[in-house]
Amino acid sequence: MKSIILDMDPGIDDAAAIAVAVNNPDLDVKLITTVAGNVSVDKTTNNTLKLLEFFGKDIPVAAGAKAPLKKQFEDASYIHGASGMPGYDFPPVTTKPIEQDAVEAIHTVLQAADEAVTLIATGSYTNIAQFIQKYPEDFAKIEQLIMMGGTVSAGNTSSVSEFNVFTDPDAAKIVFESSLPKVMIGLDVTLKALITPATLDTIAKMGRSGAMLKAIIGEYSDQAAGGKPMHDVNTILYALNPAAIKTEAGNIDVVVDGPAIGATVWDFQNRWHDENTSNVAIGLDIDAEFFNKWFIEQVGNMP
Ligand code: BDR
Ligand code: CA
Repeated sequence: MKSIILDMDPGIDDAAAIAVAVNNPDLDVKLITTVAGNVSVDKTTNNTLKLLEFFGKDIPVAAGAKAPLKKQFEDASYIHGASGMPGYDFPPVTTKPIEQDAVEAIHTVLQAADEAVTLIATGSYTNIAQFIQKYPEDFAKIEQLIMMGGTVSAGNTSSVSEFNVFTDPDAAKIVFESSLPKVMIGLDVTLKALITPATLDTIAKMGRSGAMLKAIIGEYSDQAAGGKPMHDVNTILYALNPAAIKTEAGNIDVVVDGPAIGATVWDFQNRWHDENTSNVAIGLDIDAEFFNKWFIEQVGNMP
């Protein structure tokens, strides 16, 4: 069983990632922390609690950053709807986030862990950057950081930047420059792993969880030719099955100002870095058919 901490901004694809993670028998989700991103942190926290109540899971939730480190906050409600999780009528939440904020909660969970924990970040990296700066002594307790974000081809927020990195590039720079072992599952992977209309029709018939996921994914306006990119779900797939995503070690620099703000630049000829170093494993490819089959299997684990 792999112990994980999720740091997220649900968000429709984050919601699908939570659904897979909390119901997979090989994952032990120790904590979910929330961040402002797709919608405000109050909404991402509320959406997380809604999902955990829906699945009947008693997992602590800690609210995190309300805004990026320096940049002005701009949400993605144009993609995820005003609530961040439209399309399904969840009952009002009855649970609350814990008192500790995201950074303190991550530290507490790591301190108490008997074995290394995998950190998975699928929103902007504001909480993770603050944690890295405050608690470097905890790095030994982290197996690796798996991040959804970035691109080494085209962007989805500008021609060169991906939304999570664009939202808080200063945080992303801190994270990429840290010594934590890390994997970047960016648009180069996630725009290949499109969930097809046929997969959505299949899960819709797989009980209440499949019907809920079909309903919220139906409201998701992120669309590519052939299906919808379930960006964040790929991080959970990688945690469970790293061989399913092709990666290459490299050096990535984050652009923090100007028209290319949020770009994740891969120095693949090592003109700016020592060729014997790398700061991240860069996700480059995935088999879309495998992704769809795997996702349907995951829905089969849900109540
Ligand atoms: C990322 O941005 C968000 O809108 C999604 O939840 C995902 O984490 C994709 O660029
Ligand atoms: Ca997200």
